[in-house]
Amino acid sequence: MTEYVKMIIEGKEYEFPVVIGTEGERGIDITTLRQKTGYITLDPGFGNTGSCESKITFMDGEKGILRYRGIPVEDLAEHSTFKETAFLLINGVLPTRAQLNRFSVLLNDHSLVHEDMQIFYQNFPRASHPMGILSSMVNALRSFYPVLQMIEEEINITVTRLLSKIRTMAAMSYKISRGHKVVYPRPDLSYCGNFLNMMFDTPVRPYEIDEDVVNALSVLWILHADHEQNCSTSAVRVVGSGRVNLYASISAGIAALWGPLHGGANQKVIEMLKMIHQGGENVKKIIERAKDKNDPFRLMGFGHRVYKTYDPRAKIMKKMCHRVLNKFKIEDPLLDIAMELEEAAVNDDYFLERNLYPNVDFYSGIVLRAMGIPTNMFTVMFAIGRLPGWIAQWKESVDDPDWRIARPRQIYQGQQVSRYIPLDERG
Ligand code: ACO
Repeated sequence: MTEYVKMIIEGKEYEFPVVIGTEGERGIDITTLRQKTGYITLDPGFGNTGSCESKITFMDGEKGILRYRGIPVEDLAEHSTFKETAFLLINGVLPTRAQLNRFSVLLNDHSLVHEDMQIFYQNFPRASHPMGILSSMVNALRSFYPVLQMIEEEINITVTRLLSKIRTMAAMSYKISRGHKVVYPRPDLSYCGNFLNMMFDTPVRPYEIDEDVVNALSVLWILHADHEQNCSTSAVRVVGSGRVNLYASISAGIAALWGPLHGGANQKVIEMLKMIHQGGENVKKIIERAKDKNDPFRLMGFGHRVYKTYDPRAKIMKKMCHRVLNKFKIEDPLLDIAMELEEAAVNDDYFLERNLYPNVDFYSGIVLRAMGIPTNMFTVMFAIGRLPGWIAQWKESVDDPDWRIARPRQIYQGQQVSRYIPLDERG
């Protein structure tokens, strides 16, 4: 039986249905609010606004829970692979062995990138940020790959193309930025192994694939694979709601992820830790700056719109950090600084009162550094990981029978109607 809430607006009572999620989350369906009352809601930053109903990812920010299609991220990180998790997110169920094999074959078949795309890469200025390049090149894929007539087939092939080519394209941008020969994907390597090989293999120093690094990368990408209606995912849905193609929607998601308050934070964390290490700042001063309301600086890798406790992904990432560094006997001073910074912040009233804890970006950069990934590629690594989530969310939104183009309202606070003043009469 549908529940209702009553709202009294200008003395008149209205009823609105309550939507209850499978985990007990409750939302007021205000679809008819404006039509019935003439009012709209105002919610800058959308902190209280549900933009859709979704079956993909559940997170509980108070308890620190994250599940993809009902499966805890901790279980996936321990038992699954990134490829299998991508299948789960996009198709809603874990694949059978036969489905996984078929998926692997398709990913292999679509892993090459049109040769002409290399010319594009070569013409970006050397100092271009890889996120800007990736966003442009993903959008350009639509020009290189023709549209199929069958919509279902078109979507399936575009999805596989994107998942497979994004690794090749990311590695290609790194190679070209260094002036190195591009390395092609290999059919005998895993999804993650292939990426590492395309990044680091050179004609004079063959890359030796270490299964521990491959597994660490797989876990890192699983942890990033989806996070419900965050900034970049909302960008993908909003852009897609205009019925634009998947490439253009994902390109918008990549652009949104680039921001330092979102996926770009992983690069900023390492820059902050390096600054402390090089003596430009110290932990105490960084904490004081983060607390100072007259200073725009924020403690990067700390805080989250939804998590009001330790980000479950950060917990796994921190453990992985120690494991990877131990395995390669790397003594990274940035890890010690990160732990010192965390210790100082989580015991400081400012951070405690505001429930600010490390998020996924706080430790991910140290793992990526240990793998040899350059700092300016960190957010690209995040984008590759987030791709299955963006695709799943895009598919869910275009398949929604209640789909409407995303078009928020506003409260206008500007000049009221005023006369056009001819140029000669202006002072
Ligand atoms: N350092 C210092 N103060 C902070 C931080 C921080 N990292 N994060 C939030 N605060 C403070 C705010 O100044 C505000 O204080 P006030 O109540 O005294 O004004 C309070 O905590 C609440 O912050 P909001 O900005 O309202 O929180 P919001 O949910 O809008 O922002 C965000 C979340 C953007 C993640 C924020 O915590 C932040 O900027 N963190 C640093 C950047 C970062 O790590 N981003 C990655 C997030 S995870 C991801 O996108 C993958």
